[in-house]
Amino acid sequence: MKLYEQLCQTLQIRINRGELPPGSLLPSIRVLSQQYQLSKNTVIRALAELEDSQQVIAQPRQGFIVCSPQSPSPIIKPRTVSLGATAFSVLGAANEPDKLALGSAYSDSRWPTVSWFYKQQAKTAREWANNDKRCSHYSTPPGDPSFRSALADHINMTSFACNSEEIITTHGAQEAVSLCLRAVAEPGDTIAVESPCYYGTLQCIEALGLKVLELPSDSIGGTNLDALEKALNTWPIKAVLTNPTYNNPLGFSLDLINRKRLINIANHWDIAIIEDDVFAELGHSQQYHTPLKALDTENRVLYCGSFSKTLDADIRLGWVLPGRYYEQLNYYKFVTTIACSALLQQAAAELLKGKRYRRHLSQVTRCYSERVQILAEDVHQYWPKGTQFIQPKGGILQWFELPQSVNSDQLFQQALDAGIGLSPGNLFCADNRFQHHIRLSFAHYSGSIKQKHAIALVGEMMDSY
Ligand SMILES: Cc1ncc(COP(=O)(O)O)c(C=O)c1O
Repeated sequence: MKLYEQLCQTLQIRINRGELPPGSLLPSIRVLSQQYQLSKNTVIRALAELEDSQQVIAQPRQGFIVCSPQSPSPIIKPRTVSLGATAFSVLGAANEPDKLALGSAYSDSRWPTVSWFYKQQAKTAREWANNDKRCSHYSTPPGDPSFRSALADHINMTSFACNSEEIITTHGAQEAVSLCLRAVAEPGDTIAVESPCYYGTLQCIEALGLKVLELPSDSIGGTNLDALEKALNTWPIKAVLTNPTYNNPLGFSLDLINRKRLINIANHWDIAIIEDDVFAELGHSQQYHTPLKALDTENRVLYCGSFSKTLDADIRLGWVLPGRYYEQLNYYKFVTTIACSALLQQAAAELLKGKRYRRHLSQVTRCYSERVQILAEDVHQYWPKGTQFIQPKGGILQWFELPQSVNSDQLFQQALDAGIGLSPGNLFCADNRFQHHIRLSFAHYSGSIKQKHAIALVGEMMDSY
C-alpha cells in the first residue's frame, strides 16, 4: 500500500470511530505531515482521495471538514403535500417586521443599482403621467418587447444562446414555476423534486393538486440521479423540477456530468425538466454553471428566472423560456394574470442594456462571499459540536444539520419568542424528515452585535436539548 493510501485509511478509521466526527475540522496539512512523518504532497494526495470519496470537503480558509454519512434514504414514492396553511403561518410569523429574520431568503436590496432601478421606474412613470395622449393597455404575453430583447441579450452574453421570442415575462419565478407545472402536468400527476426542496415549490405542487416524489439530495453531490432512474422505472413521473445551481436550501450545484445525465434521463423517459435558476448569477466567485437549458437538445427544459435574488423580491419580475411548451405557457399566463407591468419591464430593459447590472452582480457576490464566511465562523463559535454544514459557493442560503437531539420545530418557536426568525427543516419536505435541520440566510449577515447575539442565543437554546 502506498503512503498516501495508508494515511487515507488511518484517517478513515479515525472518522468511523468518531474521533473525527462529522462537521469537525481535520488537522491542517502541516500538522498531519508532522504527526505522520509524511511529506506535504503525500498528505495532500490522501486528502484529495478522501474528498473524491465525499468523506471530507475542502472549505476555503478553513481546511478539510468531515462530511456526514449519507442520511438513510426515505421511502421514495409519490405523495401528496400538506404544507399549505402551516407553512404560510410559520413563514408569516418569522418575517414580522419586529423579528430578526435570519431564516428568510431575502436578498440584500440596499445597493445603488436597486435604487437606480426604482428611480428609472419613477422617471418612466413621470413621463407617462405627463403624456396626455398615452392610452392604457395591457402588456399582454409574452410581455414587453424591449424587456425581452434586453433580457435575451443578457442571457446570450452570460449563459446560453436564445432569442427574445422564446421568453415570456412573469410575476417572479414563482409564477413562472407555477405556469410550467400547469403546462406539463394535470392534477394527480407526479413531479420529482430534490429533497429537501424549497417550500414555495412544494406549496405550489400542493395547490395544483399534484403529487411529489422526493429525491434524496445532499449539499455535496446534489440530486441523487440513481434514485430518479429507479423511481422512473416504478412510477409515472411527468417532470423533474430542479433548482440545480446554488440550490435552495442545500446550496449545492449539480456538476456538468450530472447535468448531462439528467438531460439524457429526461430524453430517455420523455419527461419535462423545469429548471428554476433564480440563484444562477450569485456564484460567490462569479462562477456560472452551464444551465440544463443550454444542454437541452430536445427543447424539453422550461427555464425560469427572476430579479428577486439579485435585486429585490419586491420587483416581482421574472421570466420563463418554456421550450416546446411555449403555447400552453403563453395561454396560461394570459388567463391567469393577463399581463405584467410594462412600467417594470421597461425599467428592467434599461437596466439590462448597460453594464450596470453586471457590475452590480460582481459587487453583491463579493459581499455574499464574505457574509457566508462570517456566519460560518459565528456558528462554529456558538453552536454545539455536532452541528454540520457545507458552505455553499453561491446564493444566499445555508443549510444546517443540527445535533440529533434538537427539535427544529420547537427551536423555531423558542427563537421566535426571542424575536429571531429561522426556517425549520420540516418546511422543506412532505413528511417530517428534517426534524433536526434548519435553513438560514446570510444575505444580511454582516456579523453585527445583534446578529452575533442572536446566533449565540440560538446556540444556547440548542444546548438545552
Ligand atoms: C428556488 C426558488 N424559486 C423561486 C423562488 C421565488 O422567486 P420569485 O420571488 O422570483 O417569485 C424562490 C424564493 O425564495 C426560490 O428560492
